[in-house]
Amino acid sequence: MKNNLNIAVIGCSGMAKNHMRGVIAKEGATLYAVCDTAQERLTACREEFSVPVATTDWRELVSDPLIDAVVIVTPDKLHTEMTVAFLRAGKDVLCEKPMALTVAECEEMMRVEKETGRRLMIGQVCRCTPAFLMAKELVASGRIGELFFVESEYAHHYGKARGYDDWRVDPDRHAVIGGGCHAIDLLRWIAGDPEEVYAYANHKSLTDWPVDDCTIAIYRFPGGVSGKVFVSIGCMRDYTMRSVFYGTRGTIICDNTSPTITLYENDPEGGKKFTDPVKLPVEINNHNVVAEIDVFVNALLSGGEMPITSMEGAATVAVACATVEAAREGRPIRISYPTV
Ligand SMILES: NC(=O)c1ccc[n+]([C@@H]2O[C@H](COP(=O)([O-])OP(=O)(O)OC[C@H]3O[C@@H](n4cnc5c(N)ncnc54)[C@H](O)[C@@H]3O)[C@@H](O)[C@H]2O)c1
Repeated sequence: MKNNLNIAVIGCSGMAKNHMRGVIAKEGATLYAVCDTAQERLTACREEFSVPVATTDWRELVSDPLIDAVVIVTPDKLHTEMTVAFLRAGKDVLCEKPMALTVAECEEMMRVEKETGRRLMIGQVCRCTPAFLMAKELVASGRIGELFFVESEYAHHYGKARGYDDWRVDPDRHAVIGGGCHAIDLLRWIAGDPEEVYAYANHKSLTDWPVDDCTIAIYRFPGGVSGKVFVSIGCMRDYTMRSVFYGTRGTIICDNTSPTITLYENDPEGGKKFTDPVKLPVEINNHNVVAEIDVFVNALLSGGEMPITSMEGAATVAVACATVEAAREGRPIRISYPTV
């Protein structure tokens, strides 16, 4: 087993640079190559990080025998083609969220992962966000009792986040799949796989966008737990992923942009039914890509389990696609999960 991995990062955006910093910070990993079709972004990254190899053609990296693993940070529509090509070439892959825009594409990626025996992780970065990690631990420890309602929101304004060459403005890149996948994945991670979804959507804020810009969805989670996701890409407020976990013995209110999470607990001895809210300090780090790269490289070096598997990424896409379908069809949709 190797003790150092040469890693290539495809894409040279601000988000991609976070990944590059993560690779540089990680012992046992070397930032060996970068790639972007935009020459000015490529040159800037190569100079900033002193990377040995830089190219505008990602296919040159597919055939480079010195590359062990690849981080794909390109527009969502390119994830499947790039992931499949790198896996087939014997590289391990960390692919940004959403894994792909359709369940069929996710299944193709999983099939190739199986066939080649390579490793694929999906960058559902909320699983590395300190506030959400703390919420998950509190729920799992039983601190708030049995869950009965979970909710999360992806409240954003995409006015200035259209993507390089406007790639986000695409009828195939629905806001629920592209961005709302964060909130859906967070709830799935903590409450399990929802069985059914119903949703309403509208299109009042980003009217030049080709998809609905606001969706409210409700879910039936395992054990009769109810759930709600709110996705907006045209919100007149700061970005937030405020999320609340309601249990029979307590409530957790958290998001990825606050320095504390709020905990209410059952208080049978006190005068009230529940305690005054306790503010638990937590680091704000809503794009904790350093932690994501850390666990990815650890899994590759140790041969251990992938922390965020392709099946997890695909299941989140399945829920997101069912949510879009429910809003479009105006009826509840039973969610089918990939079986590869
Ligand atoms: N985890 C998160 O919270 C998070 C945040 C932002 C973006 N993302 C994801 O990261 C991916 C990239 O988003 P972004 O914000 O960096 O977008 P961006 O528009 O800022 O950058 C995309 C880059 O990809 C490059 N590119 C396009 N086609 C290419 C090709 N064929 N070969 C090489 N480079 C190519 C573009 O030139 C551009 O520099 C998307 O999948 C997005 O959903 C995730």
